Amino acid sequence: MVGLTRKKSKYYVQLRNKYPDLPIYTLRLPGARLYIINSATLIPAVQRHFKELAFPPLEVKFASNICGSSKAANEILTRNVNGEEGDWGYSMTFYKAIHTPLAPGPGLDAMNRIMAERVVASIDGMKDRKRAKLFNFVKHEITLATTESVYGPQNPFRDRAVEESFWKFQPGIMILLMNLFPSVLAKESLEARELLVAAFNQYLKNDGPSQGSALMKARYDHSMEHKIPMDDIARFEVGNTIGILTNTAPAAFWMAYHLYSDAAVLRDCRDELAHVVSDQETTTPHGQPVTVRTIDLARVKTSCPLLLSTLQEVLRVHSVGISTRLVMQDHVLAGQYLLKKGNTVMIPGPVQHTNAGTWGPDVHRFDHRRFLPKTKRHNAVAFRGFGGGTTLCPGRHFASTEILAFTALMILRFDVAPVDGAQWTCPTTAKAEMWEVTPMPDEDIDVEIRSRAGGEEEGEKRVKWRVVVTDSDKAMPLAAEDE
Ligand code: HEM
Repeated sequence: MVGLTRKKSKYYVQLRNKYPDLPIYTLRLPGARLYIINSATLIPAVQRHFKELAFPPLEVKFASNICGSSKAANEILTRNVNGEEGDWGYSMTFYKAIHTPLAPGPGLDAMNRIMAERVVASIDGMKDRKRAKLFNFVKHEITLATTESVYGPQNPFRDRAVEESFWKFQPGIMILLMNLFPSVLAKESLEARELLVAAFNQYLKNDGPSQGSALMKARYDHSMEHKIPMDDIARFEVGNTIGILTNTAPAAFWMAYHLYSDAAVLRDCRDELAHVVSDQETTTPHGQPVTVRTIDLARVKTSCPLLLSTLQEVLRVHSVGISTRLVMQDHVLAGQYLLKKGNTVMIPGPVQHTNAGTWGPDVHRFDHRRFLPKTKRHNAVAFRGFGGGTTLCPGRHFASTEILAFTALMILRFDVAPVDGAQWTCPTTAKAEMWEVTPMPDEDIDVEIRSRAGGEEEGEKRVKWRVVVTDSDKAMPLAAEDE
């Protein structure tokens, strides 16, 4: 317990290093057993038996603790929670309801277009920003771009107080999750949550979902169909913002960090992006020549394997996520290992991501080419950045497109370096909690941002940047299930 409290998911890496021959082992805690998966060969067996080794019962408990939902809503959530009586009920049908708007196709393209507009606006705004805190900057811009595209014109996050409340709510989530005297130990977090709930209640009153994305409409319709009370729909939306923001913002930050802190990575990715940028010469109404430089996000997704590989490597190196399952009935895993009912199975991402047997002897090195189709030779199931099986992240295409768009525009237009000529130092992530997947940095980095030649102006000529998203139903290969 001391090891887990101090080191969190990294403790499982330490135990794997101590007992490398164990494919799976039991950690006995007072009143509970944790079955920890070490070997990637056991992961498909866990994922296949999703009824016996289930996630929905845990998810529902987490959701009600975190969102503070009413008894009535919790009762609806827990009805047929694991589909024992067939494919019905809130929990069983939720994933299906949100799958279509998040899968490559028109709904996702529409969200990406709004996101891209907002990203261009934010990158345009960087011109005046000579100094910034890198994580703060990325977090703010990703928060706005993501929420704008999901919630539409009534986006509650346009109010700075709502945005700040979300990031104040975040540090207390672990206490809420475990229900450890939250009113004492997570007071600030609870206050911030209630402000978010009030903002979402107002959003619902203003008929916000009808002007929002296909994803928002699907979530709202799903709750209405299941007769979730209005205040609880607002509360569940707070839970949904955890899903859409807490990973995307840090992942975009780590991506920016690795791109800018390694000259070879930066050069390679800029060279690759040069092929998906096209110029059109035109003039302003005042007769001034302008180059309109266009980048098509659909082409970034399909023709920039190096940038995509860099993102996957970022998630491999930094992810601290753990896939968790509840044992619903005694189960013999892979015909060999008895898992007793009522206990928990865990697949810690860092254990897979640091396995030299899977990734090779350079496992601890950041290699932006590791996921290139030509060089890739790892077992795909060992990449846990987006989880896997029935709980595979449905938002992976949306989040990845956003991160690629944001960082592509940033590196094409700006140079970023630590202030006063300091060296890049990789921040630690010791403060990340057990529920997190992509951790925030413990410390921010003070940086200077400078326009690149060709980024804004070329001699006398102005350059105007544009991002387009042509229709795209192609999926990026982000997880084993996409291949
Ligand atoms: C870089 C950004 C993101 C990362 C790294 C990420 C990662 C993950 C991971 C690892 C899981 C699986 C957890 C498990 O196996 O237990 C997951 C689940 C999930 N993610 Fe994401 N995610 C990201 C962005 C998003 C976005 C933008 C959305 C929504 C638009 C989203 C929606 C979800 C949902 C709804 C689930 C739960 C699926 C279920 O319960 O079956 N995620 N995510």
